[in-house]
Amino acid sequence: EQLKIFTPATIANISCGFDVLGLALDTVGDEMLIKKVAKKGVTITKIIGQDLPLDTHKNVAGVAALALLAETDCEFGFEIEINKQIKPGSGIGSSAASSAGAVWAINEMLGKPFSNLELVRFAMEGERLATGVPHADNVAPALFGGFTLVRSYQPLDIVKINTPSQLFASVIHPQIEVKTSDAREILKTSVPLKEAIKQWGNVGGLISGLYTEDYDLIGRSLEDFIIEPIRSILIPAFDAVKQNCINTGALGCGISGSGPSIFALSKGEETAIKVGEAMKAVYDKVGIPYDIHISKIN
Ligand code: HSE
Repeated sequence: EQLKIFTPATIANISCGFDVLGLALDTVGDEMLIKKVAKKGVTITKIIGQDLPLDTHKNVAGVAALALLAETDCEFGFEIEINKQIKPGSGIGSSAASSAGAVWAINEMLGKPFSNLELVRFAMEGERLATGVPHADNVAPALFGGFTLVRSYQPLDIVKINTPSQLFASVIHPQIEVKTSDAREILKTSVPLKEAIKQWGNVGGLISGLYTEDYDLIGRSLEDFIIEPIRSILIPAFDAVKQNCINTGALGCGISGSGPSIFALSKGEETAIKVGEAMKAVYDKVGIPYDIHISKIN
């Protein structure tokens, strides 16, 4: 018995929602093959595309899968093979795709004993291994699809958010690696009240805009006063890319997860493609190679 799945890349934070907002990219992701085997436990048999540890306890898919199995009395085990398309350290949820994919597939093969919310809890163990902090803003959209909000971490409460029908993401990944743990270390641990007020105004505005399909409101709300000013220094030509996106008609632009990928949201595919071209133009000029993705948000 085996199951082959696609597990999506994700954009976390979405400008104003550090550690709480995220969305799934349906056109970018990894493939995983999960096999049921007699031997108990989890074995990572093969990873294609990236150089990542096969040791179950050092692999995010392995750790997440073990967290799930620990809450079952399963008398058999699983082998996992990963075809890794998402580069680690790219800012589009590489570790989350593996963790979420592993627990989702195993849950299916066990006859779905766990809810999506419980799967998020298991997948977060993979994030703990990868980044030191078990954040859920990548694994939640990977498991629920579309836009998600982590309303609370304790207790864990995930809310799936409406996605307007014409919303597209353009994502550019300049080929440098930024480790999430490093990008978290440089952050300040307290926020001045004045900045917090602007930030939560935007979070509310963004959620409202997503439900009412008010693209202008979505655009006005896509600003980050707290994290972006600090992290953008890690990303070459960030300001130029952002300016080009806005000039080309994007609703907003920001750092995808902990970077270095940069995302922009647009109304309509045509604009999203032009915005992608505008992103490319900057890195072509500076001579930094990149990957680019355009994806409808579902
Ligand atoms: N919210 C996390 C961070 C996402 O920005 O550190 C990491 O991809």
